[in-house]
Parts: sequence; structure tokens; C-alpha cells
Amino acid sequence: MQGQAIHATMMSSRITLQFLLLTFASFLLSSAGRVHGEAARRPCPIDAIYQFGDSTSDTGNLIRIVGPNGSGSQAARLPYGETFGKPTGRFSDGRLIVDYFAIALGLPLVNPSLGKNLSFEHGVNFAVAGSTVLNSSFYAARNVSVSASDVPLRLQLNWFRNYLNSTCRSKTECGEKLKRSLVIVGEMGSNDFLYSFLSGKSIQEVMTYVPPVVEETINVTRELIKMGASKVVVFGDFAIGCSPIYLTLFKSNDSDAYDEKGCLKAYNAFSQFRNTHVQVALAKLRRELPQATILYGDYYNGYKYVLDQASHLGFDPESALKACCGTGGSYNFNFSQMCGSTGVTACPNPNEFISWDGIHLTQEAHRHITEYNTNKIFPELSCAT
Ligand SMILES: *[C@@H]1O[C@H](CO)[C@@H](O)[C@H](O)[C@H]1NC(C)=O
Ligand SMILES: *[C@@H]1O[C@H](CO)[C@@H](O)[C@H](O)[C@H]1NC(C)=O
Ligand SMILES: *[C@@H]1O[C@H](CO)[C@@H](O)[C@H](O)[C@H]1NC(C)=O
Ligand SMILES: *[C@@H]1O[C@H](CO)[C@@H](O)[C@H](O)[C@H]1NC(C)=O
Ligand SMILES: *[C@@H]1O[C@H](CO)[C@@H](O)[C@H](O)[C@H]1NC(C)=O
Ligand SMILES: *[C@@H]1O[C@H](CO)[C@@H](O)[C@H](O)[C@H]1NC(C)=O
Ligand SMILES: *[C@@H]1O[C@H](CO)[C@@H](O)[C@H](O)[C@H]1NC(C)=O
Ligand SMILES: *[C@@H]1O[C@H](CO)[C@@H](O)[C@H](O)[C@H]1NC(C)=O
Repeated sequence: MQGQAIHATMMSSRITLQFLLLTFASFLLSSAGRVHGEAARRPCPIDAIYQFGDSTSDTGNLIRIVGPNGSGSQAARLPYGETFGKPTGRFSDGRLIVDYFAIALGLPLVNPSLGKNLSFEHGVNFAVAGSTVLNSSFYAARNVSVSASDVPLRLQLNWFRNYLNSTCRSKTECGEKLKRSLVIVGEMGSNDFLYSFLSGKSIQEVMTYVPPVVEETINVTRELIKMGASKVVVFGDFAIGCSPIYLTLFKSNDSDAYDEKGCLKAYNAFSQFRNTHVQVALAKLRRELPQATILYGDYYNGYKYVLDQASHLGFDPESALKACCGTGGSYNFNFSQMCGSTGVTACPNPNEFISWDGIHLTQEAHRHITEYNTNKIFPELSCAT
């Protein structure tokens, strides 16, 4: 019953869900160059970041797919990007986790692969908002509809191959380049599951999609390492049961459905189920490819840390489960009137919120989640902390 209603809303919101805006990369490039240019401290032997993913890491690809002005995308418009200075295609008020990784590594922000005339000297971002790990055939067979502009993980890998092919003069040259880079896979897969839930699939059923999603993630990661990547971070999912979209769409009468923070236990358990699969698969991959440093990016515990420490970190604890930009309901989220729609406004101070638009997080949350992760990851990469 829930499924039907949600499916209908999803159809109308799908268009809005995944589109974005315009460039501004030259500004980005020059300002980033000034702040984090050649003179910046490089704590790690890493010159470049190659990112694969969805809206959690898209820094401007989707908007270049859906049209020059990103007319179909709410993220093409303010208040998206308001903290950044202007909308860029990022699904947040400001910077994303990949941006904070770049800053922590002393590198300029990584440009989107579809950007024209942008510098890729310090990496390329292949992430496209709305994308899934598995391709649409998998979902078509299960009556799950995915984004029309889906760029599945393997297609992003092909973009990477083409990029390398057009950049390096030889395999050796590419290998050298890759050795001095950080490859970040994900977070990716949350759309595979979100689209499935929105199409009315039960948690039990969606759990059966986890093994193939994780297997494909590992297959692509393996290929990246075989191409020469030597430092790879694979992110798991965040605590979806704490996000306004899940809290709103799957709200329950039963108080037992909620944990002490007010998050939906069953959906957080789903995230943990998935993350356990990812970690087990990564452990296996490490044994298979001991030459590479293969790390797990912990989005889930990073998010929980931010929730648990909300007031200590400067967030408003009363708003910990509410979207900054949205309208109505217990979580300031309504699927038919999302952030970016006419008349929907953002909170005055996004730094006090964890969730930006009910689906994606604020810059401030990204900053803390990155720090949580770099504290664990950098020592493994021979980086100074
Ligand atoms: C996009 O914006 C530019 C400049 O504002 C305008 O000239 C152009 O017609 C727009 N294109 C579309 C497809 O709306
Ligand atoms: C491309 O970038 C270079 C260097 O920043 C600049 O000189 C050139 O004018 C740009 N070309 C276009 C078409 O924007
Ligand atoms: C989707 O993935 C399956 C399994 O990897 C593959 O057989 C199929 O050719 C792919 N379809 C498309 C359209 O890429
Ligand atoms: C998909 O939907 C079609 C038409 O509603 C139905 O005939 C088919 O059984 C469904 N398949 C699955 C796997 O749910
Ligand atoms: C690029 O692709 C072409 C055609 O597939 C191939 O011949 C060439 O060796 C590739 N170059 C590199 C550097 O991988
Ligand atoms: C992963 O690769 C293995 C070995 O090539 C293959 O058998 C399997 O089907 C792949 N998994 C997915 C989900 O494509
Ligand atoms: C919630 O409780 C009301 C009243 O007991 C009931 O009518 C309704 O169906 C319940 N909703 C859900 C989602 O269980
Ligand atoms: C969401 O917004 C729609 C359109 O404005 C409205 O009809 C609906 O009642 C709202 N839902 C909730 C739960 O507030």
C-alpha cells in the first residue's frame, strides 16, 4: 500500500531528484589553486584523486548531462551551493566529502570529468548523481525504475579507461600516475536500494540485491587495482534509518521501530547488513591483491558520530533528524515539495544541521565525517596527520 503511493510520488519527483546546475569550475580552479596550489603542504605521497560515485560525490557531472542550464535539477538552483558561493552541481549547501579529502591531501578540488577545459592534473571525478552500481537491466527485471541519466559504476570505469587512454602515452606512464593517486569508490549503491524501496520492494527482498551490488563494486575495484591503482578507499553506506527521506516515507506507528536517537532500526540494520558485506568482501580482496592498500570508508559510523556528538560539534540537537532545506512534516521533508522547488526555503544557518535536503548532508556534516575517516585512513596511507 505504501509502495503504490510512494511509487507515484517518486515518478513525479524522479526528474527533480537527479539534476543539477552549471559550471563555475574556472573560479573553483583558480581559487583552489591559490589556496591549495603547489605551495600547499602535501601530507601524503598522493598527487591525484579519482572518484566514482553518485550524488554524494558528484561535483558537476549530472548537470552537464541534463543540459547546459540544468533546468530539470533542483540542485541547479539556489539554495544548493549557497555556502559554496553558487550552485555547482553539488547536492549540498557546500563542499562534499571528496572536496574535504582533496583539501586534507593538500590538493585542489577535483573537477568533474564532463567539464570542458578543466584541469585534471590532480584527479578526475566520474561520479554522477542518481547513479546505481548495477545497470538498469538488473532493475528492469525486478520492476524497479532507475534514473534516466544513470551512469552505472562499470560505465564510470569505462570513462576512466578512456580518460587514461587519452592522457598517458603508455601503460607504464598510466601506472606511475595511478601509483601516486587515491581512488575513491563510493559511496555508491544507496540509489540501487533507494529506488528499490521506492518501487515498493520490502527490506527482505532488497537484502537479496546486496550481494550482487557488493560483488560488482568489488569487481570494479579489482579492475582499478589491476590497472595500477595502489591506494583505494571503498565507502559503505551511511545510516539511512536516520535520514529524513526514510524517516518520512517509512514512518511507523510502532515506537519499537525507532532507536534511542529516533532513527528507524530496520533501515539502519539494512545499512549495517550491507556494510558488513562490503567489509567482508574487502578483506577477501586484500588477500587476493596484497600489493594494494584497500581501505574501508566508514560513512555509517562517521554519521553516527556526528549524530551522537551533535551538540558538541555545534549542530542543533533538536534538528538532528530534520532537513535544513525542505518543508513540513516531522522531519521538514516532503517528497512532493523538496529543496529547490518553488517556495521551499533553507534554514538560516545550515552549519547547525546535519541533513541538507533530507537526502544529502550539509557541508558541515561532510567536514566532520571526512575528518572521522581521514583520522583512520591517513595513517594507513603513510600520510602525516
Ligand atoms: C542556458 O543559459 C544561457 C545563458 O543564460 C542561455 O543563453 C541559453 O539559451 C540557455 N539554454 C537553454 C537550453 O535553456
Ligand atoms: C581553456 O583554458 C585555458 C587555460 O586556462 C584558457 O587560456 C583558454 O582560453 C580556455 N579555453 C576556452 C575555450 O575556454
Ligand atoms: C548489465 O549488466 C549485466 C551483468 O553484468 C550485463 O550482462 C549486461 O550486458 C549489462 N547491460 C547493459 C545495458 O550494460
Ligand atoms: C513486473 O510487472 C509486470 C507488470 O505489472 C508483471 O507482469 C511482472 O510479473 C512483474 N515482475 C516482477 C519480477 O515483479
Ligand atoms: C588506447 O586505446 C587504443 C585503442 O584501443 C590502444 O591501441 C592504445 O594502446 C591505448 N593507449 C593506452 C595508452 O592505453
Ligand atoms: C564479478 O566478476 C566475476 C568474475 O569475473 C563474475 O563471475 C561475476 O558475475 C561478476 N559479478 C557481477 C555482479 O557482475
Ligand atoms: C497507525 O495507527 C492507526 C490507528 O491505530 C492505523 O489506523 C494506521 O493504519 C496505522 N498505520 C500504520 C502505518 O501502521
Ligand atoms: C506534501 O506536500 C503536498 C503538496 O504541497 C501536500 O499535498 C501534502 O499534504 C504534503 N504532505 C505532508 C505529509 O505534509
